[in-house]
Amino acid sequence: MQDTDPRWSDVDDYIVEHLIGEDPAQDACLAANLAAGLPSIDVSIAQGRMLELLARSIRAQNILEIGTLGGFSAICLARGLAADGQLVTLELEPSYAEVARQNIQNAGQGDKVDILVGAAIGSLETLLGQGGKPFDLVFVDADKENYAAYLDYAIQLSRPGAMLIFDNVVRKGGVIDPDSDDPKVPGTRSLYEALKNHPNVDATAIQTVGSKKWDGFLMAIVREG
Ligand code: DHB
Ligand code: MG
Repeated sequence: MQDTDPRWSDVDDYIVEHLIGEDPAQDACLAANLAAGLPSIDVSIAQGRMLELLARSIRAQNILEIGTLGGFSAICLARGLAADGQLVTLELEPSYAEVARQNIQNAGQGDKVDILVGAAIGSLETLLGQGGKPFDLVFVDADKENYAAYLDYAIQLSRPGAMLIFDNVVRKGGVIDPDSDDPKVPGTRSLYEALKNHPNVDATAIQTVGSKKWDGFLMAIVREG
């Protein structure tokens, strides 16, 4: 089956040219990531804008991101925060976190963003223990093996009505293959299993093509009441 088409990227370019435009801070972020040898697996520019608009649409005051990488999506989410809002983002790799810190600072978002370095589960336990303000939006874009665990933490750490978004939930269609040789597929499938008939969460997923080939975003809302 064909799982890529050069037009997908060309159309992403068209979308960016017409709807988003030049963005020196994002260009600088991607250049710095490349120079530092980070993997080029950030959300696309169009997806990043969508994250920003989703955050803005719910007037998010507190956002949690799991998986900072070089900070590209954190910059997008921080831009979507309400005035005096805060973003907490979790990153395993100290060297990635340092690149992200600089990128986020360069983009003028440093005051709004806290990066917690270390394994995400440990940071999530810390956040639970602190009992801080619940999150309005959680974006998960980290190790797929723990996606079902991240769902549990996201629910515990967020307010009723909160929005949860997971990246990479289609993986070139691999998600429907229980015998996939992509080691990340079982973790992604466990997220779907956890959400199947979930008592507290309504969800959907949308397949996407573009510069990130064939993949998808999953969106969920924690039920109120
Ligand atoms: C991978 C991870 C991502 O978050 C992504 O968006 C694309 C690919 C990966 O680990 O292969
Ligand atoms: Mg991703």
